[in-house]
Amino acid sequence: MKKIIFKFTHIAIISLAVISCWYFFINRCSLQKTSTLNRIDQIKSIKTISNLEKTIDNDRIKSCLNNVSSVNKIALTSLIVADNPNYVISAAKSIKTIIQNTKGLNFDKIVIEIENKRLKEESKQLLLKAGWDFICTVRHIYSADDSKLYKHHKETYTKLITINMTEYEGIVYMDTDILVIGDIKELFTFYKKIDFINYFIAVAQDTEADGKPRDRFNSGVFSVRPNSTEFSRLMRLRDTNITDLSFAHGEQNFLNHCYKDKWYKFDFKFNGIVWILQNYEWNLKKMTIDVRIFHFTSIKPWDCMSKAADVCKLWNDIPI
Ligand SMILES: *[C@@H]1O[C@H](CO)[C@@H](O)[C@H](O)[C@H]1NC(C)=O
Ligand SMILES: *[C@@H]1O[C@H](CO)[C@@H](O)[C@H](O)[C@H]1NC(C)=O
Ligand SMILES: *[C@@H]1O[C@H](CO)[C@@H](O)[C@H](O)[C@H]1NC(C)=O
Ligand SMILES: *[C@@H]1O[C@H](CO)[C@@H](O)[C@H](O)[C@H]1NC(C)=O
Repeated sequence: MKKIIFKFTHIAIISLAVISCWYFFINRCSLQKTSTLNRIDQIKSIKTISNLEKTIDNDRIKSCLNNVSSVNKIALTSLIVADNPNYVISAAKSIKTIIQNTKGLNFDKIVIEIENKRLKEESKQLLLKAGWDFICTVRHIYSADDSKLYKHHKETYTKLITINMTEYEGIVYMDTDILVIGDIKELFTFYKKIDFINYFIAVAQDTEADGKPRDRFNSGVFSVRPNSTEFSRLMRLRDTNITDLSFAHGEQNFLNHCYKDKWYKFDFKFNGIVWILQNYEWNLKKMTIDVRIFHFTSIKPWDCMSKAADVCKLWNDIPI
């Protein structure tokens, strides 16, 4: 009997030892497995980071003739059509107000200049000092018939190059004659609405001076999802000689023609035509609408009218 009990204990101890060994072995294995996986993950993430860095380093913007690269996934563009000091100064002032009202948002800030209408070196230095990241030189984009364009719209089709800058996921374009007075981070999200089915561009509706909406959008501020196929489609449309196209407002008529009923409408506050102030006796303090961007369409702050002195003063007070 004693012998049997002894044998039983013996077997129990041996089994226990075998089980513990096996348990230990499995655990060690799985531990090893986890740590190997961890290391693969780490290596993978290092690879991802270095790929990302590579992309950042080499993503030369193909639509620019000069060697400039994208850094962020979203961007702001603005076209300066000629070395007119008023527009250069306005672009310097506007970027200061844009930066002030987009805190925490990272985006590339690009001035577009036209190859045969280059900016002077001192103008470029002023713009870079004010906060623009770089100057992108592009070829002049002509309309179907430039002789029909108003003088101050001769070059404005060139802003369409923004649609071809596919190094970016989304871009906001703004004319240089704007002044930002409130948070505009939301403006940099509207490109996500563009699906090339229902919406091709995000814009604000144009309004009459009395605030009545017009049956068209204003192309002084717009947002797009860059797409080379779409850019080529637009260029082909331009070349088809659309007979009923008015050339009065440059690219604005063209875009309204191509994107009729296909525009995502964002709030007027992101493209507040200064004329609207006449509804408030030109008095900013009496204004009951929430305007974040003032757009000097007819009245220019450097060529102001006395009634609009308050809003022009806001612009004048921005140091350069
Ligand atoms: C438009 O983008 C494509 C693809 O990046 C590029 O090859 C082409 O040169 C661009 N067109 C213009 C006018 O810059
Ligand atoms: C563009 O500039 C970058 C850095 O400034 C340089 O590494 C690259 O070789 C340049 N590319 C061309 C095509 O000149
Ligand atoms: C680019 O635009 C074309 C229309 O010109 C559209 O069919 C296509 O789906 C767009 N591509 C992407 C990636 O959205
Ligand atoms: C466009 O049409 C007008 C008249 O409708 C014509 O005079 C002109 O030559 C045409 N332009 C092109 C590029 O076909």
